This record gives sequence, C-alpha cells and structure tokens, in this order.
Amino acid sequence: MSRNFRPALFAFVVIAGAVSLTVIDNPARAQARGATKRTPNDTLHDHALAEIDQGQQTFRFDTFGDEAFWGDTLKLHQAIEGAALGGVGPGVSPNTALAVGLKVDVDALPGSLQSDLKHGKVNLDDPAVTVALLQLNSVVGVTGFFTDGKLTSVGIQCAFCHSTVDDSFAPGIGHRLDGWANRDLNVGAIVNLSPDLSVLDTLLDVPDAVTRQVLLSWGPGKFDAELLLDGKATRPGGGSAATLIPAAFGLGGVNLHTWTGWGSVAHWNALVANVDMHGKGRLWDPRLNDATQFPIAAANGFGNLNPTLSADDDRITPKLAALQFYQLAIPAPAPPAGSFDAAAAARGDVLFGGKARCNSCHVEPLWTEPGWNLHTPDEIGIDDFQANRAPDHRYRTSPLAGLWTHTKGGFYHDGRFATLLDVVNHYDSFFSLGLTAQEKNDLIEYLKSLPGAD
Ligand code: HEC
Ligand code: HEC
Repeated sequence: MSRNFRPALFAFVVIAGAVSLTVIDNPARAQARGATKRTPNDTLHDHALAEIDQGQQTFRFDTFGDEAFWGDTLKLHQAIEGAALGGVGPGVSPNTALAVGLKVDVDALPGSLQSDLKHGKVNLDDPAVTVALLQLNSVVGVTGFFTDGKLTSVGIQCAFCHSTVDDSFAPGIGHRLDGWANRDLNVGAIVNLSPDLSVLDTLLDVPDAVTRQVLLSWGPGKFDAELLLDGKATRPGGGSAATLIPAAFGLGGVNLHTWTGWGSVAHWNALVANVDMHGKGRLWDPRLNDATQFPIAAANGFGNLNPTLSADDDRITPKLAALQFYQLAIPAPAPPAGSFDAAAAARGDVLFGGKARCNSCHVEPLWTEPGWNLHTPDEIGIDDFQANRAPDHRYRTSPLAGLWTHTKGGFYHDGRFATLLDVVNHYDSFFSLGLTAQEKNDLIEYLKSLPGAD
C-alpha cells in the first residue's frame, strides 16, 4: 500500500511546487525552501507513512514472542513436521494446511517454485514442502523458527486470522489481503493438531479430551477470544460459544470494536496479543478482575498482566501505536463490478435511511453509531449470551463496509443468520417494518454494495 502512496505523494509535492512557483512567482525562494527546509507538514506525512509501513510489518510478521506458546509449549511445529521429519504424527502437508484454511503468499515464493507449482512438480502431500514454505516465510500468519535448517518452533501473527489472499495463483495461494477475515481458517482444528494441550487443560480445568472437543466445535472462520477469560465453551442451547472472525479494515471513526465492544483497536490489540496469542507484554484491564464474569482471567491475573516486565522485554506495547495506525488505514474494499444490482442498491439506500430504519444505528458512512456504538440484546432482539461475556453486556453495531468480503459463515457474531435475507427478515419481524419482498431484495443489494461510491 505504502508503495502506491509514495508516487502519489511525490506527484503532490511536485504539483504543489509548480503551483507555488506560479502563484508566488519567486522561484528562488520556492526552490530554496523545497531543497533544504522540511516543513512540519513534511514531517507529519513521513511519520504517517512510516507508521503504516511499521504497522503492516507488525500485523503480518510479528509474533510478539508467542512462539514460546505455539511452538515451545503446544509443540505445533512437531505436528507440522510429522514423525518422518523428527516430529510427531503424520505431519501437515500443504494440502492439509490449505484444507484447514491456511493461505500462502505468492509474493514470497521464488519464480522457480511458482513455475514448479504451476506444472504440478511439487508434492503437495509432503509435510517437508510445508516446512519449506515456512522457511520462505510464505504461510500467511505463521512464522517458522529454524535452527540449522531444522524447524524448532512456530509462532502466529495477527494475519493468521485477519488476512487472506486473493487466490490469484491458485485457491489459497495469492497476494495478501490484510484486514479480511479468514473465514476458511479452522483455528480449532489447527490448535487441536498440538500433541500437548496440557497448558489449556490446566487453564480451563478440564480433561484433555474436553479441550479437544471444544476446539473441534468451533469450525471454520471462528475463534473464541473469550474462552480463556471465562471458560464458557458452549452456548445455553448447546452450540459452540465461538464467534466469527470479523473484518479488521474500515475501522477509522469506529469507537468500540469486537462484536461486544470491548474497547478501542489499541485496547483489543493489547488484549488479544497477550491473552489469546500468548505474546509477551503488559495488559491493564481491571474489568477482568471480576471473578464472577471472568473466573479464569481473575484467577490468573490477566487484568494486570506481567506487571514487573521490563520495558526492554515487552514485545507488544511498543508495537501498539503503529499497529493501530495501520488497521485504521486499511480501507474497506469496494465490491467487484457486477457483484450487485446498482439500481436496486440505490433504492435500498433510500430504504436503509427510511422505511427500514437501519440508519438509526448503522449511521452512514461509518455504518455504526458515531459515539458509543453499543446496544442491549433486547434492542436488537437477540439473546444475551455473548453480550454477557463482555464488560458492557452489549452488542456493538457492526460496521457494514466491505460486508461482501465476509459472507461466508453467516452474519451476526455467531453466524446465526446464514444469509442477508435472514438478517433482513429478522429486523422486519422484530421492528415490524412491513417490508415487501422487493424492498428486502433492494436492501440486500445495498448491503452488498458497501462501502459504495457515496
Ligand atoms: C486466532 C484468531 C485471531 C488472531 C490471531 C487475532 N484475532 Fe483479532 N479477532 C478475532 C476474533 C474471533 C475477533 C472477535 C472477538 C470478539 O468479538 O469477541 C477479533 C476481533 C478483532 C478486532 C475487532 C474488529 C471489529 O471492529 O469488529 C480487531 C481490530 C482485531 N481483532 C485485530 C487483531 C490484531 C491486530 C491481532 C494481532 C495482534 C489479532 N486481531 C489477532 C480473531 C483473531
Ligand atoms: C438498534 C440498532 C440497530 C438497528 C436499527 C439495525 N441494526 Fe443491524 N446490527 C446492530 C447490531 C448491534 C449488530 C451486531 C449483532 C451481533 O453482533 O450479533 C448488527 C448487525 C447487523 C448485520 C450483521 C453484520 C455482520 O458482520 O455480520 C447486518 C448485515 C445488519 N446489522 C444490517 C442491518 C439492516 C439492514 C438494518 C435495517 C433493516 C439494521 N441492521 C438495523 C444494530 C442495529
């Protein structure tokens, strides 16, 4: 992204320079200023671009030291290698990795390998190929650590769940798309590959078989970010308590994040990097000391994590500023041409702010409330289970820009509505909107068109 920015900025500087030449008509002064003196505005622009670059690097490649958990403790690298390479079990072949939703960054593959792949000369059933792909740093969101060419540990990044690829090379192989929810990724199945989950068994205080059952109940595109806070693995009806992975783009102007509004991007990043990814840093959130709501977090002191960690050893806090900056900079992608009916979407836009009353909460063009964007379960007509797993006991009005990128897995926090028609039907009956079939269709085309052109 920043690569595209620079020429644009350069062009702007050149044009601005040309304009000042003509307006001020003092070439010598303009030239001297341009050549030697950098304005505070130049500094600001440089800073913004540097933050985006740094944040992107962190989002894509920083493990925050979590290899101590995913590798050293869970020993996932041994499961990836398989017994034949000195690990355990059958190993994880590229085909298996792709089947559990892992993605490969084509830009990290050398031309020769791309050509071999194209010509079917690579054995995608061989775990050694997965290890080679890790060595090339091409598996999105997963970093292999190597000692003398041997895989000795593995860590994960934000990109693991929050990036996918455009499939430009082959299904699951393409250019990175940061901020897109990976709705193919079966996090639970991947964690379950671990030969040693005892640390999770201990935290959850359940037998190993139960931990594994919980992980396998999540399914693709879902993760339970609150499990290690409250230990709640199932909804009252019996279904999995995991939530869908949300989009991490188009978040500028949005106050509270996560399905249940835990906090700002900066807050949530600190929480997830420490508690869920098991990176090494500090976390301060005394709301987690509530032993009734968050028994596991309270018992393990997550509300004030690593209070004596020296600043030099903190792998997370120094990254938060640029990481936040980057996520706020990722635009919600526009839908492909022809993927929605423009005339119907235009009618839907009118309905959205009119008869269907959607805009009262999903305020355009943020498509969430400017301000404190939370609602009680009663206000949107659903149960309170997931809301009660968060400090405010509420649901956050989902920003809808780029909705078209995450239709897999359904809608609402747990995917309870399989289609947009199911969502619209829910509102139609809950708010007694009296929408006709045509109007529902128009609303759906509008939802598919976001972020739109207005
Ligand atoms: C294992 C998968 C996984 C990883 C790794 C992960 N996240 Fe998430 N992320 C989720 C899930 C699931 C949620 C929803 C949590 C909830 O609502 O309780 C979420 C929520 C978010 C949100 C809120 C978006 C919104 O407004 O709805 C942001 C931002 C985010 N994550 C950024 C990050 C960053 C940055 C990292 C790395 C530090 C990261 N995540 C690591 C799965 C993951
Ligand atoms: C009272 C406020 C409110 C109103 C009115 C409202 N919504 Fe929502 N909407 C929410 C909240 C809160 C959520 C998040 C629910 C959850 O997390 O389970 C949501 C979620 C959604 C989602 C799911 C997004 C996703 O990523 O899964 C869609 C789509 C949606 N709303 C569309 C609409 C439409 C269309 C209307 C008008 C017919 C509408 N909403 C009216 C508050 C509202």
